[in-house]
Amino acid sequence: MTVRHLVSIEDVTAEWFMDLYETCKDMIHYPDRYTDACHGKVMASLFFEPSTRTNFSFQTAIMRLGGSVFGFSNPSATAVAKGESLADTIRMVSAYGDAVVMRSPQEGAAAAGALYSEVPLMNAGDGGHMHPTQTLTDLTTISQKRGYVGDLNVGLCGDLKNGRTVHSLAIALANFPNIQFTFIAPREMAMPGYVLTALKEKGVRYHEVTNLDSTIPQLDVLYMTRIQKERFTDPLEYERNKGLYILTRRKLDRARKDLLIMHPLPRVDEISPDVDEDPRAVYFEQARYGMFIRMALLHRLCHAPREATKPAYDPAPRLCQNDRCVTMTEGWYLPNKTRTLAGEMVCAYCDKKIPDIMPENVSV
Ligand code: NCD
Repeated sequence: MTVRHLVSIEDVTAEWFMDLYETCKDMIHYPDRYTDACHGKVMASLFFEPSTRTNFSFQTAIMRLGGSVFGFSNPSATAVAKGESLADTIRMVSAYGDAVVMRSPQEGAAAAGALYSEVPLMNAGDGGHMHPTQTLTDLTTISQKRGYVGDLNVGLCGDLKNGRTVHSLAIALANFPNIQFTFIAPREMAMPGYVLTALKEKGVRYHEVTNLDSTIPQLDVLYMTRIQKERFTDPLEYERNKGLYILTRRKLDRARKDLLIMHPLPRVDEISPDVDEDPRAVYFEQARYGMFIRMALLHRLCHAPREATKPAYDPAPRLCQNDRCVTMTEGWYLPNKTRTLAGEMVCAYCDKKIPDIMPENVSV
């Protein structure tokens, strides 16, 4: 299987990950063998949204492979601030670099950007949609700690509605043997429909609960997440939900001895610092594995031959009605793209359902 761009976690299979993980393991054990593996390669790093781990781990990954990096973590310093389109920005950076890493607050932005990139583009997080390289990090952590990915009851806890890391992790884990999920969230922050549909299609068992404490003893992995404050349009909704789930040392008394406590970080208050000393807490190691798996990914992708791209200009009114979708601001030129998910038409950028009845100003 050849992966050119890593846009959606659906682009990768379990076999593809396991192959990448073999390279990653070698990089962990013998980093000196890879110091020139990407010599002369230049990575473009576009962060339209704040980041610590993803940005710095990608940067240090390319440096450890002998390559270099250019880009921004503040788009106000670029022509984006002058109104340049995403398509033109990506055309330019892909003309200068050998690989593009991109994070955006808009859902589907990486899928849109990849249409205009002459070189491989990696999604470093697109709004509340997906975060495939965090998922590679998570799968690497489980593999390192457990030896393989499989036979797990995985608890995902927190803001499952807006948290992109849990969306891509659930979809990816569904490709591995004997995985079941426990989704722990208040009802208004439940896992979105497109993730549940993907799990149902693969016949993966899940159940949704609201109580963390009573669930902990059954879990092999507890993946905590932050309430995604920046994604709330209603501040009251955030106030209602913040502080609902706080993992403390005491709550772990009845947990399995080999539980893995994971978190993509940053944490706010959902894991008390007294948990950090527990040997089951692996979130800081997890962040370090993120650098190694990104090294393996860059090594795999940044040697790909340059390919010219010419997506069709499509000024037709956009079909997607999701306010957070990239088509909201870039829809005036982006091709209208849909796909079918469990018999329903969804936007191929953000995966949200296309409404059956179009608003009056949209003609198809
Ligand atoms: C996550 C993200 O940006 O989605 N962080 C990360 O990349 N490690 C999680 C979060 O911000 O809560």
